[in-house]
Amino acid sequence: MTPEADDRVVCVIGAGYVGLVTAAGLAERGREVRVVEVDPERRAAVAAGRSPIHEPGLDGLLGVVVGSGRLRAVETMSEGVAGAGVVIVAVGTPPTPEGAADLSQVLQAVDEAVHHAAPGAVVAIKSTVPPGTTRALTRDSRRDDITFVMFPEFLREGSALEDLRNPSRVVVGGEDGAAVQRVVALLGGPDTPRLLCDSVSAELIKYGSNAFLATKISFINEMAQLCELTGADIEKVADGMGLDPRIGRSFLSAGLGWGGSCFPKDVRALETSAGYHGQSFWLLKAAIEVNSQQRRRFTAKLLHGLGGSLEGRRVAILGLAFKPLTDDMRQAPALEVVRQLEDLGAVVVATDPVALDRARPLLPRTTLVADPYEAVTGADAVGLVTEWPAYRELDWGRVIGLMGGRLVVDGRNCLDGRAITGGGGIYVSMGRRTRGLPPQAPGATAEGISFGAVPPLPLG
Ligand code: UDX
Repeated sequence: MTPEADDRVVCVIGAGYVGLVTAAGLAERGREVRVVEVDPERRAAVAAGRSPIHEPGLDGLLGVVVGSGRLRAVETMSEGVAGAGVVIVAVGTPPTPEGAADLSQVLQAVDEAVHHAAPGAVVAIKSTVPPGTTRALTRDSRRDDITFVMFPEFLREGSALEDLRNPSRVVVGGEDGAAVQRVVALLGGPDTPRLLCDSVSAELIKYGSNAFLATKISFINEMAQLCELTGADIEKVADGMGLDPRIGRSFLSAGLGWGGSCFPKDVRALETSAGYHGQSFWLLKAAIEVNSQQRRRFTAKLLHGLGGSLEGRRVAILGLAFKPLTDDMRQAPALEVVRQLEDLGAVVVATDPVALDRARPLLPRTTLVADPYEAVTGADAVGLVTEWPAYRELDWGRVIGLMGGRLVVDGRNCLDGRAITGGGGIYVSMGRRTRGLPPQAPGATAEGISFGAVPPLPLG
């Protein structure tokens, strides 16, 4: 007999970043949580109370909630959803070749979940899906005793647990008010802002948030280029703009641009989705182009800093993960940059505190080493790609001494330019003003090297 839906029991489908963090967080809050995961290795790790991904705090929390029996990893959907009051769908929506969101995993998960779900269960879509998806799932559902809501996530990798424990807002979209309330009750505290709306708006809140933040970053990256052309300092410009509370300083860090599992895919999906509805979302097209330009600008700084040819030159890359505190290599700027450098003939040695294992199959031509001092030894140039705090703390005098050349290109504006020039290096940034640094090498000016408008890369 099918058990009745019980809201104390939550089923999470998919033990990826979002699913696993959500599941662990809900178990911590006292729910009985089951995670359905098809990948045997991932499932075995969770079942053993270990995190299969590098996310601060997650390993420890999984140990506790799995140990206490509040979280269980299961293989089959029937086991996972049996009796669950809320079923959270947190499977991937990877991009199709056209840039749309591939919904096949969502559709399959929903199909199976609906088959086994208890009467009265709510299916909450946490996967990022295009506008209209949740409504279509409701329309096409074989069961009218099950309700669908859109329950977008706003977790940042590296601080996902913190974001889950103290969410900036809880958004739930759906046409059935009671179902929406049951899902709202899962997260947040009495002071957490809640926004309840229709499902299409909830879907667009998720896309709009990511696309807006990505556009904000692309905007500051264009400003950084203008700073180089005019002699302004992007950090001062961002600080000054950010003091306006309507703008805010966050997401105004210029550099190599946005990567990761969400921004690139979601910006493209929103732009493609707008296209399906006959709209050309010009701002997003530009944000995407600027983002790819940032990678080329960085490579060009290395190319031109080394005299216009990278053939046989040794370049050390510091940082591979798409951002610090994660080992996630999805859409990491390092992948594009390293490939560009290698296509231009450079010999690349790269390092990262945690992402080497994930990077290895993606960068077959690259030498990967764990020790940053080993990576820079004999290098003609060093390029910083991920702003791990440990790289700022390096003994830059020692680094320059170990290098064969002296060029350091800081793709995240996170290094102390003075420490580098003080050690005899040449410091190049992404729009920072370096005037006032001690005299630099022949060929460099007291302002550091400023390439202004970077010429195109001679790539095929
Ligand atoms: C993002 C959203 O922030 C989160 O709400 C959503 O749920 C998932 O996507 P995440 O991908 O973990 O989270 O990374 P985030 O910290 O937002 O950074 C995204 C990218 O932008 C990174 O590549 C980061 O390096 C870059 N970035 C961020 C900048 O280049 N400049 C900035 O000022 C901020």
